[in-house]
Amino acid sequence: MKSKTTHNKPIIIAIDGLSSCGKSTLARDLAKALGYTYIDTGAMYRALTWYMLAHRLSPPMLIQSLPDIKLEFKTGQNGTNNILVNGIDITDEIRSKEVNEQVSQVSTLPEVRHFLVEQQRQMGIEKGIVMDGRDIGTVVFPEAEVKLFLTADSKVRAQRRHLENKQKGLPISYEEVLDNLLYRDRIDSTRAISPLKKAKDAIVLDTTQLTSKEQLLKALDIVESYISK
Ligand code: DC
Repeated sequence: MKSKTTHNKPIIIAIDGLSSCGKSTLARDLAKALGYTYIDTGAMYRALTWYMLAHRLSPPMLIQSLPDIKLEFKTGQNGTNNILVNGIDITDEIRSKEVNEQVSQVSTLPEVRHFLVEQQRQMGIEKGIVMDGRDIGTVVFPEAEVKLFLTADSKVRAQRRHLENKQKGLPISYEEVLDNLLYRDRIDSTRAISPLKKAKDAIVLDTTQLTSKEQLLKALDIVESYISK
């Protein structure tokens, strides 16, 4: 079997935090550095939201359709982490304004959370995984060996996301990006089921002043100090 890490014993690394504070970039970089699998759970909530919108379903209809929905991750050309719904690659579509506007509401549905959390736990069975989201260290893998909780100033988060959108040619203004971030932060942190909160044993990383390389080095230090304990 392919070794998932340079270390003998693979671990689970959970990365949670507010929207757009660098979780996905850090999780992807960390997984690459360690030879681990990277799972973006936000993409899974976005994919179900895309399905609901594409099939013009109401939330109760989405819940009824869950058994018919198959989500898969595949490595695309250029090493991208692509997501497929029933065989259709919707990696770009899940970042649309419409999905941004609906995804937090879809994420409050208990049946949706149950459906996705089960699949996320299965993905971590062999460990050697870096998973990012909102409830990874608290609900999906409360036993994860390393837990990081990312924060960053909201204006800096909006600037970063706005720049990313511009590079992808998405016409969303800075103000719209900031409003959407703050709206999602509020719903994600106050929902009844699995709200975003720091796990007691998570290490906080404020990324406001850190480049992605600096974030990776800090995270690698944390992982190394766990492994050498
Ligand atoms: O990480 P992201 O911004 O792509 O996530 C999109 C939405 O999905 C986010 O607003 C909240 C939800 N989400 C969640 O509720 N739980 C997760 N583990 C990951 C994402």
